[in-house]
Amino acid sequence: MFQEKEQHNGDLKESQVKRIQSEKVAASDIMVASLAHELKNGMTSILNFVQYCLNSTSKEDKRATALLGAERETKRCINIVRDLLAYLRVEKEGEEAPQEVSCAVIIDRVFKALSSRIEKEGVFIIQHYPEEISKVWMKAGSIELVFSNIITNALDALEKSQKKEIHVDIQREDKFIQVVIRDSGCGIARKNLARIFEPFFSSKPTGEGTGLGLSICERIINQHGGKIICESKLGTGTKFKILLPSKEGKG
Ligand SMILES: Nc1ncnc2c1ncn2[C@@H]1O[C@H](COP(=O)(O)OP(=O)(O)OP(=O)(O)O)[C@@H](O)[C@H]1O
Ligand SMILES: [Mg+2]
Repeated sequence: MFQEKEQHNGDLKESQVKRIQSEKVAASDIMVASLAHELKNGMTSILNFVQYCLNSTSKEDKRATALLGAERETKRCINIVRDLLAYLRVEKEGEEAPQEVSCAVIIDRVFKALSSRIEKEGVFIIQHYPEEISKVWMKAGSIELVFSNIITNALDALEKSQKKEIHVDIQREDKFIQVVIRDSGCGIARKNLARIFEPFFSSKPTGEGTGLGLSICERIINQHGGKIICESKLGTGTKFKILLPSKEGKG
């Protein structure tokens, strides 16, 4: 009896510690989000002032180079803060109700949004979707963000490749819907592969990547009870495998 009570008290303590820890995390998230929001507003104003000055400065004027530098750096900072806000928002994304949606529909939406870049860069998209098996209970906006991040990364990786292909395969794997997105791009060095899901890890030139894309993807997929796995070979290409519980699997 005494032992049972001890055990019960222990469990209670553990759950209280967990609750306090998660409240602390939530409070610091809110603080960071408010700060980020204020910084974004401030930097957007700076960008407006810089662009105003740029418009009234001739290209030959030495100050134009400095203003262009200021414009580029301000835009870079705004992007970092925008991605940070998106990363924090994923945790509190309570508002979007899950619905039954097909992964194929979401991926087609992403390809449509990226169609002008795909066309301009001469990338071939090879899709293999069997009919009617890809429905998932999902927060459609969040899952669209996942596929958009992964396909944008694939396009970036293909920029210097001879062979420019993105393959998308969807199939059922037991209680999951498996989406595989494979590119023939530059691939990922072995030492980087272990780090790609870390927030702020990016191999892209300064100003081009904040390194939040894949960490946001992983958070969203985990929230859906799914899994995201990456395999890559330098110089050959990269494959992302995303598993999401199927509508039937969820019961
Ligand atoms: N398909 C891919 N091919 C090659 N490298 C990739 C691919 N996808 C991701 N990576 C590597 O993983 C890193 C992290 O990707 P992630 O999307 O998190 O950040 P990012 O693309 O650098 O910046 P952003 O925050 O703008 O998305 C990339 O910088 C790149 O090195
Ligand atoms: Mg990215």
